[in-house]
Amino acid sequence: MSIAIVGAQWGDEGKGKVVDLYSAQSDLIVRYQGGNNAGHTLVVNGKKTVLHLIPSGILHPGKLCLIANGVVFDPTVFFEEVDSLLASGALKDAPTAIKVSERAHVILPYHCLLDKLREQHAAGGKAQIGTTGRGIGPAYEDKVARRGIQVIDLLRPELLRQKLQVAIEEKNILFKHHFQAPAIEFAALYAECLKLGERLRPFIADVRAVLQAALAQGKKILFEGAQGTLLDIDHGTYPYVTSSSTCSGGALTGTGVGLSNPIRVVGITKAYTTRVGTGPFPSEIEHTEKETAERIRKIGQEFGATTGRSRRVGWLDLVALRYAVEVNGMSGLALMKSDCLSGLKEIRVCTAYRLGDQTLTTWPSCSEDLERVTPVYETLPGWEIFDTSKVRSVSDLPSTLQSYIHYLEKALKVPVILMSVGPGREETLLLSDPYSTKS
Ligand code: IMP
Repeated sequence: MSIAIVGAQWGDEGKGKVVDLYSAQSDLIVRYQGGNNAGHTLVVNGKKTVLHLIPSGILHPGKLCLIANGVVFDPTVFFEEVDSLLASGALKDAPTAIKVSERAHVILPYHCLLDKLREQHAAGGKAQIGTTGRGIGPAYEDKVARRGIQVIDLLRPELLRQKLQVAIEEKNILFKHHFQAPAIEFAALYAECLKLGERLRPFIADVRAVLQAALAQGKKILFEGAQGTLLDIDHGTYPYVTSSSTCSGGALTGTGVGLSNPIRVVGITKAYTTRVGTGPFPSEIEHTEKETAERIRKIGQEFGATTGRSRRVGWLDLVALRYAVEVNGMSGLALMKSDCLSGLKEIRVCTAYRLGDQTLTTWPSCSEDLERVTPVYETLPGWEIFDTSKVRSVSDLPSTLQSYIHYLEKALKVPVILMSVGPGREETLLLSDPYSTKS
């Protein structure tokens, strides 16, 4: 049995914390999509660690952390993270603990530059996505256009030279003539790539084969998703999405693990919703319930771990969550940050959308429609502020919060198998064993 952790909303649900918790029971932890646009915040013994690329299982010594082929990999960011984990003592023997797929595509400085220039160019207009500026989209574009540079190429000087020359030639036309920006110098970048490749050599592996061998030995694999369902390139609010497959299907294509391997999918959701960047957000309360939005943002510390941007806040959206349950084939839900709603007299849950004279209870495929819908809410009683350090079981939670959990389970037809009531590892209720074969 393997577990896939997926974001059920627009990212920032708290996947890092759940991955960290489940890592204790797992043998291998694998990132399968996205790149360092992710920001996973972990709090262990009061100490905060933010990871962007290395799997969140790294804080458990003895576990193997993998970066699979579906990831877009920035080697400079990778080494910054490795160095900081080594310096803090959290990591000892990095090349033994972390393996990077030969086939992952490399993010190079021209990808980041292109990402930022495009966003600046589109600023204020419909074409602005509000990306993280980490070169994610341009790197995936090159991959799909079959002109990307893969990790293994960094170890093959001649092949790298050819590929980089072609890539730079084309990019420079864009930089010089479309964006009026300085051109990229081949020689310096080529030398830097070779240097990074040498340092990367002991980390590089056929990650697919490593996973296959682990499966054959009955090892437990934890697939760590980044971003969220509604940012998926195929299933999200296109074009206001990221460029990878953030849903559970991405765990298969992003690693090369076959469909016949049993994988249980755990979706992560906050008790409310947030979104960073532009794009439709039907249950947003940023302009309609300003004070409540501010309060939730402050208590929930809703500022991006990657860019520091302030996250847009809204109520929980059951239309979106029902969709996420279906798209991912979710079998359990982790409910995060319900403590951040404590003290509110009432809370609201979006149960449907109004579009013209229609009432929609299923997710509309077109982002333009989503921009025009108005939410239909059900109002529920809130819960009082409670001492999260004293919570050992669901029965220790305020009764209205217990009712809220049952309400969600009924509405989504998925059990809540984990409850987080604070950032620390210990502020969690593990309600059932995710690896248990008993359902
Ligand atoms: P990109 O992934 O940097 O191309 O950004 C595309 C969209 O995805 C933007 O709206 C970003 O704000 C959003 N996004 C990317 N990564 C994350 C994340 O880890 N959490 C939340 N939103 C994200």
